Formats: sequence, C-alpha cells, structure tokens
Amino acid sequence: MAARFGMVGLGTMGRNLVLNIADHGFEVCGYDRDEQQRKTMEAAAKGKPVTTAASSAELIAKLESPRIIMLLVPAGKIVDAVINELVPQLQKGDILIDGGNSHFTDTDRRYQALQHSGIHFIGMGVSGGEDGARFGPSMMPGGNIESYNLVKDILEAIAAKAEGEPCVAYMGHTAAGHYVKMVHNGIEYAIMQLISEVYGLLKNEGMTNTEFAELFDEWNKGELQSFLVEITSVIFREKDPETGNDLIDMILDKAEQLGTGLWTSQSALELNVLLSVIDIAVSMRYLSSLKEKRVAYAKLYDHQNKKTNVNIEQLKNTCRDALHFAFMMAYGQGLELMKVASAHYHYDTDIKTVVKVWRGGCIIRSALLKDLFEAYEKEPDLSNIIGSAQFVNELKNKRAAVVDFLKTAMDAGMPAAAFAAVLNYFDAYTLAQLPANLIQAQRDLFGAHTYERIDKPGHFHTNWNYTPPEAKQ
Ligand code: 6PG
Repeated sequence: MAARFGMVGLGTMGRNLVLNIADHGFEVCGYDRDEQQRKTMEAAAKGKPVTTAASSAELIAKLESPRIIMLLVPAGKIVDAVINELVPQLQKGDILIDGGNSHFTDTDRRYQALQHSGIHFIGMGVSGGEDGARFGPSMMPGGNIESYNLVKDILEAIAAKAEGEPCVAYMGHTAAGHYVKMVHNGIEYAIMQLISEVYGLLKNEGMTNTEFAELFDEWNKGELQSFLVEITSVIFREKDPETGNDLIDMILDKAEQLGTGLWTSQSALELNVLLSVIDIAVSMRYLSSLKEKRVAYAKLYDHQNKKTNVNIEQLKNTCRDALHFAFMMAYGQGLELMKVASAHYHYDTDIKTVVKVWRGGCIIRSALLKDLFEAYEKEPDLSNIIGSAQFVNELKNKRAAVVDFLKTAMDAGMPAAAFAAVLNYFDAYTLAQLPANLIQAQRDLFGAHTYERIDKPGHFHTNWNYTPPEAKQ
C-alpha cells in the first residue's frame, strides 16, 4: 500500500514525528541515507504503518500522489541538497514541507525558486523538541494557503491540542512560518535568560536545589505557568548518576546556541524594532561561554558576589512578580517584531493565530498566551501589548518588583542584564520626554544633520557657537 506521507531525515525529530503521524492512522515512509537511522526507525515503528526507504527514488516510488514529503534535516546547505535531489523526481501538485529551523530568507528563496514548478513548498516551524514531535508539536506553516489546505488534515491530527484546538494554523505567505518560529525561539531565549537570572540571585541568597524545585512547582500553578517553568522544577530534582550530586551543580555554566536567537535580533535591528530582552539573552549566552576569561577577570577584580540578607520570602515574591512582568515584555517585544515583519515582508500574519498555535506543544507555551490571545482578539491592530487595556494594570502593578529585583541584584553583585533590559525598555517606551533632544543637537553641531523643533514643523540647522581648538590657533 502506498504511503500518504514521506519523511526525509530520521534523526530524533524526524523519527518521532513519523511515529506520531503513524499513530494517527496515516501510512508513512521514512527516508534516511544512514542505515543505522533506518534500523532505529524500523525498530521503533514495529506494528505501525511505517516503511523506510534507502534512497530518494525509493521514497518517491512508495508515496501516493500527490506526494507529501517533509524534510527534517539540519538547516542550511543540506536542505538545498535534499530539495535539489527530490525536485527532478517530483510532479506538479506534489508538496514539499521544510520542517527544520531554516532561516526565513532561505525559505523565501526556495519558495520563489519552486513557485513556477507547480510543486508546493511550505516552510514550517516545528516546536516542542523530541516529546513534542512524538506526542504533539506546535507547528507554524507558511507559504500559500492552497498548499496548506492540502496537508491540513494530517497536521491538525498530529499537532498538540490546546483547549481542544490543534496547535497548527496557516501563518501567512512565503516564509511566514519560519519567521514565526524564529521569533518563537527569540522569546524562548529571553525567558530562559530571565529564569536563569532569578536562579542566580536566589541561589546567591542561599536557596537550595530542593527549595528551587518546590518554588518552580508552586510558580507553575499561578500566572507563571509555562513549560519552561515546569521543566526548571524537574531539573532541580535530577541527580547525577555518576557522583550522586544534584545534576544542575555538575553542569558547566557555558550556554550554547544554534543561532535562531541571533537571527531574531538581527532581523529586529533591520526592521527598527526594539528587541532588547532577546538581544541581551543572545549576548549573555555568548558571555557565559567565555568561562576562562570570566575566571581570570573575577580574580583581577576580586569580584565576589555577596549575600544581601534580604528577607527570602519577600525576595521570592519579588522574583515571581518581576518574572511575570518580564515574560510580558519578552512576548511583547517578539510579537511587535512579528507584526512589523508581517507588514514589511507582506506575510499577512494574524498575530492572534500565532499566539493561538503557541498555546500548546511548543517550548514557550504558557498561561500568559491565553491573555495575549484575548488581547489580540479584542485589538487585532495592537502594535505592542504595552498599549493594551488587557495588560495596563498588571504592568503598572508589577514594575516595582523589577526595580526591587534589580536593586537586590546590584547589592549582591549578581548580573541581571535581562531584567535591566526589561525595565529600561518599559521605562523608555512609556516616557513622553526622552533626552534624545541632546543627541539631535550634537548631530546638528558636528554634522549639520538638522533637528525638528517642539514649536513648529520642519527641519532646522543652527550655526552652533563652537570653534574647534585647532581653528583657533
Ligand atoms: C523548539 C526549540 C528548538 C531549538 C532548540 C535549540 O521550539 O523546539 O526552539 O527548535 O532549536 O531548542 O536552540 P538553541 O541551541 O539555539 O538554544
């Protein structure tokens, strides 16, 4: 019997997605050049409607028409190589889905290249890691709506469900799906950095790993409820089988990254959207990787973080409220970028739909997304959640917690760069008068760049009363 769905790449994500698709009653054929990967797939799929293929020709021969083929291979050149191998063997009406973390400009290029071939191309973000792939990921497909409708039934069947609704929907034209996934990852970076700063400060005040596990459990029942808070609690309970110590204490403090956070920041800079919380999360991962230098500089400056002896129960509450405020800003920045990018690249992305598919299955799923959904439902044109009636009171009330958090962190000598970025972003965005008039004056003095005035329209230049010391001689 011909298979309904083809998968290229039987690594962890591909293999688990194949099992998920098969569990929903669709025949699947998985292709991987690596024999070991095929064997692992076959062993895992015993009793399920799954076959494997050792070549692209075999895969294509085993699929019913129109062929639906998803690529789950490392982003970059390999995606192009696989597409180039498959396309000559495909027919009009066949559908290619790139489910990897491809850069949106690559997706756009591939989409344009295939547009006149009659082969559908869908760039789709897939989130949720291994468990998500196996039991229900969040999926963000983009391209054209006709292509999406051809695969909608399968994707909706295998997606995570939030309040009974599948966490997959059409994200918009061309590369919209991969753009949405990129922003998702940027927000993921921000939330992880914020949680780690809270961990750093509370640990400095003497909290134990058991207490952290309990605290994150408790937080996961309230407004901070989220996958990342939930797994943080689990992390603090894990033991290292080799030493018997808490595993968290055995892990080197060097954070790595594959690049999607950086891409988000790069794109935001190009589009003039402030993404400071995500930017700093990317940079702090990099700074953490400079372990040897940090150790040397710590000695040079005798930088000792010190216990502040603030009331720990009070500090926990401060951390909870500061995190809530900061989570709102992280999503807020990401969604503002999405809105601007959608207009700039003509994606026609509906932010409410983005928020909806993030409610389940993905790494940044959280209770907050429900509030965000309501906010964008009420105000579809909302440019930033700072301006949303839904969030005003919460933001007003919790700003003080961020200030308190930062004061304690400074006293302790503990870095809190993401929280500082959050506060500065909020304060700058909500301040009617910034000192930018001075920058305009400086620009006009040294470069005759002109400035606008507060009392009349137009651009003005002043012959400033300045003579360079060199000209005086
Ligand atoms: C997801 C994740 C995933 C991401 C990895 C690694 O949504 O499932 O975002 O796609 O690529 O978690 O990301 P970094 O190595 O850059 O942290």
